[in-house]
Order: sequence, then structure tokens, then C-alpha cells
Amino acid sequence: MTSPGVYADLAAQRACWHPVAFAAALGTEPRHADLLGEPLVLWRGPDGSPRVMSDLCVHRGTALSLGRVTGDEIRCAYHGWRYNADGRCVAIPQLEDPSRVPAKARVAAFRAQERYGLIWAALEEPRWPLPEVPELQNGDWAMVTAGPYTWECDAARQVENFTDFGHFPWVHPGLLGDPSRPVVPRHEVRTEGHVLHYSIVRPEAENSDDFPVFGNEQAGPPERRSRYELHLPYTIALRVGWGAEKGMVYFFAAQPIGVDRCSGYVVIGRNYNLDQDDEVIQNFEDTIFGQDQVVVESQRPDRVPFDLAAELHLKFDAVAVAYRKAMRTEGLAADAPVGIDVS
Ligand code: FES
Ligand SMILES: [Fe+2]
Repeated sequence: MTSPGVYADLAAQRACWHPVAFAAALGTEPRHADLLGEPLVLWRGPDGSPRVMSDLCVHRGTALSLGRVTGDEIRCAYHGWRYNADGRCVAIPQLEDPSRVPAKARVAAFRAQERYGLIWAALEEPRWPLPEVPELQNGDWAMVTAGPYTWECDAARQVENFTDFGHFPWVHPGLLGDPSRPVVPRHEVRTEGHVLHYSIVRPEAENSDDFPVFGNEQAGPPERRSRYELHLPYTIALRVGWGAEKGMVYFFAAQPIGVDRCSGYVVIGRNYNLDQDDEVIQNFEDTIFGQDQVVVESQRPDRVPFDLAAELHLKFDAVAVAYRKAMRTEGLAADAPVGIDVS
């Protein structure tokens, strides 16, 4: 569905890295993922590195993810055609000489990498590298993953919700905000190319007994400092601190599955509570994302309208405004969106 207006341009986002799976979920068995309306098959090659290819056998369009991986080849489940890791068909068993493969018999193979506990894919030469988050590669920090959270909205809606300050007391009372203190603290956004930088200091929500996930008990008057980097189009590195050495990194990346469907991956690093059971943070995130999902899936349109006149923005919506401007400036949102409807 493409209605008039300015929306995310899926074609332009082919030249960006996007998450397609948690690294721990990917083995040598092929699995399916959708990215920007494109069906993909993923697996790990014999050297452990991720492979990402189009999930459409060129013969009859069967999903290659139904097939079998042997060595560094994937074999289609329907007629057994074999493809190597660069997408070239190397054997057609129905031929007397199975190796006499026509040159056209190939599928697209895409760039892939593993980092921060995620498998990333780019459908075209990526314009920017992944963000640098050394904390998540420092073996001294504990890491927990949560999600993926699959929502019926575009990835921009999910990213924007993650970084929306005004909703904390209303949607997450007692967990991320306090309804008696709804005022959004002042903050300014600095846009550098495709990265938005902003920080916020706000009164700490108490650690709840159910979810004792934050490190705030040490730092006098409870105050939480959150330093954000929003890397266009859909990745956020949020560093949370309480004025001392305790630190937490929230890394969030949304997979644009299609025009109005996305999946959010959370990777959290911390240098305190190192022995805490992963489930404490995972249950907390499940609760928070569950509260958000109901609200965000109700938003209309179900995609972020990047035209500033389409919604009512106030001063405390500075991040949303800067995000809309930067997405347009970088050519990631456009008047005539090129989108592939997967619904
Ligand atoms: S459809 Fe894949 S081999 Fe025939
Ligand atoms: Fe939220």
C-alpha cells in the first residue's frame, strides 16, 4: 500500500546494514528472513561466517530455506539444484552432465556480517559501516539479548517509539517514568550526517521489585543520564549512566521486513550485576515492548510520515523532527516511495 506522502524509501535502504537474525539463532541449517520485502535464506558456512542469499530458487521459485546445506552449498528441496555461496548454481541433477549449468542459473547473494550478537545483511554496497559500540565487544561486560519484537508497523515507527521521551510516564508508569513528572527535560539534537546525537537527564524511575534491572542505587539523588546515537535508518546505541562507573548500553536495531512490518532486536550490555540472570532483563524488555506495541500498532498511518506538516510536533519532539529531516536529507525517505508490499 503506497498512499501519497513522504515515507521510508525501501529501495534506498538496500544500501544500509540491517539486522536479520540473532547470531545465536543461526546455525548451519538454512532459515528464512524477509528484508525490505525481499525473501532471504540465511545459514552459516563451514567457516562459521554467515551467508545471505535470495530465498527463491531460480528454477521454479521454491524457497531455498526449505533445502539442505552441505559444505558451502545449499540444495533446493524441490529438484535438488545446488547453489554455492556466491549464488551460482553448480549442479542440476536432471541433466546428463549435472555440471553443464546455464549461466543464467544463479540467485542473488548478499553481503553479511556478524556483530554485536546479530547477523546483519546489506542488499547493496552499504553507504555506512555499522556503529562502533566497543562496550558490546568488551568481554568484561555482560550481554543479554531480548526480542525480536515483531510489530505491524514500519521500522521507523518502532525506532521512534524507542527514542520517544514523552510517553515514558504514560505507557510505562513505574518502570521507565513517573506520571507525576511528565515534563520532558530539555535536550538538543546534533545531526552529523546520518547520525543523530542527543542526551537527556531525567529523574530516575525507581528500580521496581519485579524488575531490578538498573544500576541507580549507588548514585545519590537518583538521576539517569541517557546518551543516544541514532544511526539512520533504524539503529540506536543508547548509553545509560548514573554518574559513576556503572554503565549500561542499550543497542537497538529494527529490521525493516516490509513496508509496514518490522522486527526489533535488543542487545544490552552492562558492567554491573554481572551475575544477574538474563531473564530479569528479558522479562523487563518483554513487558516494556508489550506495552509499546499496543500503542504503536494503533498509530495511523502505520508508517512514519516524514512530511513535518503531516503531524503536530512540539518542542519536546525535537528528536522526531530531526529524524524526519535527516531521513529526507539522506535520501532514505522520499515523496514517491518505492515500496514492495509484502502484506
Ligand atoms: S524449484 Fe528449485 S530445483 Fe526446481
Ligand atoms: Fe516505550
